[in-house]
Amino acid sequence: MKGLVLSGGKGTRLRPLTYTGAKQLVPIANKPVLFYVLEDLVEAGVTDIGVVVGDTQDQIRAAVGDGSAFGARVTYIPQLEPLGLAHAVHIAEEFLQSDPFVMFLGDNLIRDGIVPFVRSFQQGGMNCLIVLKEVQNPQDFGIAQVQDGRVIRLVEKPKDPWTNLAVIGIYLFDHHVFEAVRNIKPSFRGELEITDAIQYLIDNGYNVEARHLNGYWTDTGKMDDMLEANRWVLEQIEPRCDGAVDSASSVYGKVVIEEGAEIVHSVIRGPAIIGKHARVENSFVGPFTSIYHHCTILNSEVEHSIILEHCHIETQGARIEDSLIGRHAQVHPAHTKPRAYRLVLGDHSRVGIL
Ligand code: G1P
Repeated sequence: MKGLVLSGGKGTRLRPLTYTGAKQLVPIANKPVLFYVLEDLVEAGVTDIGVVVGDTQDQIRAAVGDGSAFGARVTYIPQLEPLGLAHAVHIAEEFLQSDPFVMFLGDNLIRDGIVPFVRSFQQGGMNCLIVLKEVQNPQDFGIAQVQDGRVIRLVEKPKDPWTNLAVIGIYLFDHHVFEAVRNIKPSFRGELEITDAIQYLIDNGYNVEARHLNGYWTDTGKMDDMLEANRWVLEQIEPRCDGAVDSASSVYGKVVIEEGAEIVHSVIRGPAIIGKHARVENSFVGPFTSIYHHCTILNSEVEHSIILEHCHIETQGARIEDSLIGRHAQVHPAHTKPRAYRLVLGDHSRVGIL
């Protein structure tokens, strides 16, 4: 069985971070979302993996390399325009050939891995297996109608959903999916939808089954979902300290302090992670916070936030909460008069002021 990971797309719901970075590389508990996906595939014995990449391919290639760090062999498949998930399958045909494969959306995060789904599919008898999960907002996903274990209808982002069962970003296919993607037409949003390809399989007598996911899942496409995923992963971390904590500092609860990190005259209350070579000085880092590598947090309070690499945060004691801060961002006191906020914000940035 091969793997197909989709890591293209524009990530419009995560702007401004995605103007300059791949959404699949935003770190959750200091590890890019995409790495969790690759680990789940390898755990299920899927090591021959095609990664579909778009505008951000240089970053994805730099982060993932040839896949050997994950115990996998990665082949990159460039998608020149984000024309849909079924289009990605279409352009991957040469890589996939007639092998069955598992397609995993590179921004989806699940708790319990994909082993049971891969095993079910390998037992044979199915042309496609999809995974379903109840959600509060089915209008934002593909939804599925299931009868006696078989899927009979799929609709992409319905205005009036008849079920709360969403199709999550893990799909298993045999080679008949290539016939399907060749026969469907672009949707109203101009994309070849994977839901339409699966509906084609159903309408043409192929066996499409569904399994239910009991554990945690999120599509990390939006900021709130990122913070939720970060909360959930941090709750599971094993505490450790590979950095330095001075005697004037206190560390409570589940906290990971990575190599080369320094905690000086500060309080860290977990669950939290402080990245490699980060420095936290005279500050408070509260629960559900991930500080990525080479950040400086000085005279500040940060809680329930994700701070990406090389940030400098200095708020003079003011508190940052519920925030997602991009790479190399700087927050520091404005000493010049008159007293004012002085902002250099990228397009679509959002700032909550007091
Ligand atoms: C895609 C699929 C949708 C599925 C979702 C899962 O949506 O089109 O059917 O429910 O992934 O994450 P997108 O994130 O591309 O809007």
